[in-house]
Amino acid sequence: MESLKPTIEEIASVANYLWQKGWAERNSGNISARVTGMLSSGFQISASPDVSLLQESFSRLAGDLFLVTGTGCRMRDVYQEPEDHILLIRITTEGDRYEILFPVSEKIPDLQPTSELISHLMIHQYLKEHKPARKVIVHTHPSELIALSHSPVYKEERVLNRLLWGMLPETLILVREGLGVVPYRTTGSIELARASIRALRDHDVLLWEKHGCLAVAPSATEAFDLIDILVKSADILFKCLHAGYTPEGLTDDQLDELRQRFNHT
Ligand code: 13P
Ligand code: ZN
Repeated sequence: MESLKPTIEEIASVANYLWQKGWAERNSGNISARVTGMLSSGFQISASPDVSLLQESFSRLAGDLFLVTGTGCRMRDVYQEPEDHILLIRITTEGDRYEILFPVSEKIPDLQPTSELISHLMIHQYLKEHKPARKVIVHTHPSELIALSHSPVYKEERVLNRLLWGMLPETLILVREGLGVVPYRTTGSIELARASIRALRDHDVLLWEKHGCLAVAPSATEAFDLIDILVKSADILFKCLHAGYTPEGLTDDQLDELRQRFNHT
């Protein structure tokens, strides 16, 4: 497991950020990372790994390894005891099952992967083919962005991104494609997974209507950053509204200048 330690530690740090930010009530949120090829050759796989059926076949992930947070786990516990709350799973060669290779935790003997596993795996399958550098998925519940998705006006993707980009220059610079808005689908459902993949064609950060955010990036830290900057914009918007005025926002010309200067199309 030594070779996976840096990735596990980074997931743990980000779990702590999510908790500290107030985006991770109880067991909210989950994180996964594709770590195929990162296991040291001496790693001993448990003699009788647990094998579970998947709802879908993931033939393009056959043999792939993933670190994934356990269902029901608190992010603050993932931070404090990562090796008891993160699993290592491997997709079988047929692609229709996964084996739990780690942990064999005495603390939580029946630890299972996140209930959003279907979304994580479908997204990883999409990323492997279309955006291979992005190997980490972070899902969390930032109140400010969820609040915006309760408004029929703000949850309109074009309106929402124009508004968030206008709150401070970094939002356009760092989240150049903006948020992809995914209409409400049941938590953990295949419909949510499918709708997410559609939105990921044009975005690296998604807003799951009335639920939360999901970001994909090369690392957990970078995925966190994408959500963090968008939350900053939403926070500025709400602060202005709470103070009794509508924020001016950057003008179209100012945003165009940023696009040109930072080489956006
Ligand atoms: P899990 O505890 O199963 O990961 O679920 C948390 C969550 O945020 C569901 O959307
Ligand atoms: Zn959630």
